[in-house]
Amino acid sequence: MSLTFDGRVVLVTGAGGGLGKEYALAFAERGASVVVNDLGADTKGGGKSSAAADKVVDQIKAKGGKAVANYDSVEDGEKLVQAALDAFGRIDIVVNNAGILRDRSFVRTSDLDWDLIHRVHLRGSFLVTRAAWNHMKNQKFGRIIMTASAAGIYGNFGQANYSAAKLGLLGLSNTLAIEGRKYNIHCNTIAPVAGSRLTETVMPPDLVAALKPEYVAPTVLWLCHEQCQESGGLFEVGAGWIGKLRWERSKGCITRKKNRPVTPEAVRDQWDKVCDFTDSVKPTSVQESLQSIVSVLSKVESGEDLAGGPTSAPAPSSTSGINPTAAVGQKLPPTTFSFSHTQCILYALGVGMSTKEPDHLRFLYEGHPDFGCLPTFGVIPSQAAMMDGGLSSLPGLNIDFTQVLHGEQYLELYKPLPTSGQVTSEATVADVVDKGSGAVILLDVNTYSGDELLCFNQFSVFVVGAGGFGGKRTSEKAKPLAPPPRRAPDVVLVDSTTPDQAALYRLSGDWNPLHIDPGFAAMGGFQAPILHGLCSFGFAARHVLKRFAGNDPSRFKAIKVRFVKPVMPGQSLQTEMWKEGSRVHIQCKVKETGAVALSGAYVDLHETAERPERLPQAEGGLGSELVFDEIGRRIRESGGELVKKVNAVFGWEITKDGENVAEWTIDLKSGSGALHRGAYGGKADVTFTASDEDFMEVVQGKLNPQKAFFSGKLKIRGNVMLAQKLEVILKDHARL
Ligand code: NAI
Repeated sequence: MSLTFDGRVVLVTGAGGGLGKEYALAFAERGASVVVNDLGADTKGGGKSSAAADKVVDQIKAKGGKAVANYDSVEDGEKLVQAALDAFGRIDIVVNNAGILRDRSFVRTSDLDWDLIHRVHLRGSFLVTRAAWNHMKNQKFGRIIMTASAAGIYGNFGQANYSAAKLGLLGLSNTLAIEGRKYNIHCNTIAPVAGSRLTETVMPPDLVAALKPEYVAPTVLWLCHEQCQESGGLFEVGAGWIGKLRWERSKGCITRKKNRPVTPEAVRDQWDKVCDFTDSVKPTSVQESLQSIVSVLSKVESGEDLAGGPTSAPAPSSTSGINPTAAVGQKLPPTTFSFSHTQCILYALGVGMSTKEPDHLRFLYEGHPDFGCLPTFGVIPSQAAMMDGGLSSLPGLNIDFTQVLHGEQYLELYKPLPTSGQVTSEATVADVVDKGSGAVILLDVNTYSGDELLCFNQFSVFVVGAGGFGGKRTSEKAKPLAPPPRRAPDVVLVDSTTPDQAALYRLSGDWNPLHIDPGFAAMGGFQAPILHGLCSFGFAARHVLKRFAGNDPSRFKAIKVRFVKPVMPGQSLQTEMWKEGSRVHIQCKVKETGAVALSGAYVDLHETAERPERLPQAEGGLGSELVFDEIGRRIRESGGELVKKVNAVFGWEITKDGENVAEWTIDLKSGSGALHRGAYGGKADVTFTASDEDFMEVVQGKLNPQKAFFSGKLKIRGNVMLAQKLEVILKDHARL
């Protein structure tokens, strides 16, 4: 989906030319209302003119965009933000871009050269951002860009004033990223390279022309979009290339011994080690930096590892707050969970069961002769340990809980769950994996009833931004995902969630406000509260249980899913299923958008003694169900051959007492053929309508299809000639 800024109000400073102009045009083109600020000064900060900003505003308006001009200096920060409020009623995004140059060699730099540069770049960005801050905080959304420069990062001859101010902006941005985090205010810094009037004095004309500002603007737009979770980053951007920068610190060297002074000679003698980047670390916070320095005190005291740096292990702990060596094997305090049939029923309602479906009653009514607990209820007792943030209290897991996502889930049952009782769960950190962009914590949870092991859960918890600690990229402890076979699904079930699905599901114990509180959801970058991943998981699991296990919980063995995209309450879930032996592969999509919500997923079933792939009882008592089940099996066995012979898509509408009760699509045209429940894609070449009884008569050879057609018992729409081919398939199944 393309990134738009509809409803967002953007203030770009220094937008009368160069990079700022490009940002303003790009934001406006994607729906934002833009305040085009420019003092209209010359490159050294002298003069003033409204023409520059006006031209950009005219250009935006000529394309049908929304913009107003503002001619104040960034030193009047409040006025710039007021212009946004006056014109558009809010301020969402601030791009601090205005800039001037006063290049001089260091000794010739005057007070004025120093002060002017600092006033425009550093103080100007401070004043504009401070004026916008409370508005962003109150609306729990804000995106801020600071503009640094390679001169600040690396130093540049003749730019002492400019370099100092530019790197000052990075320090400002780092702190704003921390202070803004809980209000969904993100702040990032760019060091751009583009041809403009500022660079035309230092770059050859060809390069000025080639390095277009439009190659930089898309990065600024992405960093300012609500979907972008980056904050506190520093990026070099130019020519369409973007690179991220971070701090790297050598392992270093302790030059002190217990009860001895540090001497300059000791420092000199260890200097090579101090500057050796082998086994370097990449600290990301003051806490990490301080922690590792404080650890030196105890090391010196104990006389340990004096040749090493503050941390004895190479990379682990100091990069991301994660230290696998310390974390793996740690246990959370055991939790107990008591439940009665009330919790089982509430859970079943939470995952969409309804009294509208007669076969759901066995999970909704404690008086039902087969009353049972849905197998996926097994995640509920085990998640209590996760809920109170216990994970972050473990050694080696210094993580930010606002950055935690539920990545994958595995559940295995060792016996059907009871409908009441007290169970105990014990959680252990099985492994920690470094995915670069984040860390994956595998948490294994065993749930016992007394001494008996009832079920096992593996939570894969993804911590955004906590990667890069030099850990392994995969774990043999992770329960694997499995992609579905490369053929159309055997069965597709569509089920709608209600607008209150998340409100209902959370009553089973997942109280995360992300699923109910719009303000909290906005902080996470969502338009509205999202459905729990484990709720979609519950939907998908019961779809499999219904279609392939006759709703019998004792047939359920295990389930694994990966949570890919969020589902909004009220959307419909489309579960596609492929049966392969005792495994049913699943892919769950949001029907309205086609987005995949669960992937790589499967349910493992216990086989029954007699033909497991046939429904133990035909749904709604339709004889035709069993026939289609058998046709589906045949297609799976020898679909390729049938496709060659038949090359057509057949639709079937089955009626009972004059009402349409089931639809099927037999696709013998594409791939190796498939059977779908429902009018799949509506692309049948020919569609048959018959009552369940007449269909059975035809299939069993008791009623001749031609006769059925002429007597009106079998209706045919579409390519009637194809009816003869259908007879081939049905005849092939004479044993029906
Ligand atoms: P530019 O000179 O084309 O644009 C800067 C704009 O800021 C001008 O339109 C100017 O009138 C305006 N401005 C100056 N003082 C102002 C004030 N007090 N209040 C409001 N507006 C004011 O330059 P360019 O290249 O587009 O630079 C944009 C930003 O990017 C600057 O902060 C610059 O330091 C930075 N930068 C640019 C690089 C490049 O390669 N172009 C390299 C590194 C940093």
